[in-house]
Amino acid sequence: MPTPHIAAEPGDFAPVCLLPGDPRRAAHIATNFLDDAREVTAVRNMTGFTGTYRGAPVSVMGTGMGIPSAMIYAHELISDYGVRHLIRVGSCGALPADVGVGDVILAMGACTDSGVNRTRFGGLDFAAIADYALLRAAVDAAASTDRPVHVGNVFSADFFYHPDSGQLDTLGSMGVLAIEMEAAGLYGLAAAEGAAALAVLTVSDHIRSGEAQSSDERERNVTASTTIALEAALVVAGI
Ligand code: HPA
Repeated sequence: MPTPHIAAEPGDFAPVCLLPGDPRRAAHIATNFLDDAREVTAVRNMTGFTGTYRGAPVSVMGTGMGIPSAMIYAHELISDYGVRHLIRVGSCGALPADVGVGDVILAMGACTDSGVNRTRFGGLDFAAIADYALLRAAVDAAASTDRPVHVGNVFSADFFYHPDSGQLDTLGSMGVLAIEMEAAGLYGLAAAEGAAALAVLTVSDHIRSGEAQSSDERERNVTASTTIALEAALVVAGI
């Protein structure tokens, strides 16, 4: 039965789903990393695919940018399509000098200026954390990549163009590794709905230095984070 934003049939999605922000990235992952991938939804061009990775059923679907958009798709995937493990594969901007462009960040926790988790949590501050089994599997998989991999806190921002640049100093002083726009919402949603979530992020730019990847580098670098995410998917799929 289709949902307002996903036109797929029951059973069309695997229990584990990778979630890039960009639907074209979803198509890229389906084409280049999955076997026998087929498109299962394309409402608003937000494409989703299901195939297999090393024999295990895996789906991949775009979420758009920002917590509200990502939570719409993640909620419908969990409540209507039986997705239990959600792995965001996305980009982020790094803050500390020792995190480089092209590095991978596993978001153990996600701070935010969004109000969604406070709303869920009765006005209290919810610690938005990754699922431990997914995180541990991703850390194990990271040992096989040639990219530096960092594990720690990220900040899921409501603003891409923030009006107060002074906020960066606050984030940096508390050890935040990078800024992105979805993980905290995804982690809160997963907690509320009994699912498991992890964000595997590629550093596309450095916020302090202004250094940014070329499109070629972005293409190559997505391989490291996608492989880590898929290997983690295999572990939770029980294969
Ligand atoms: N802010 C938010 N999201 C991002 C950034 C950023 O600087 N870079 C890549 N994704």
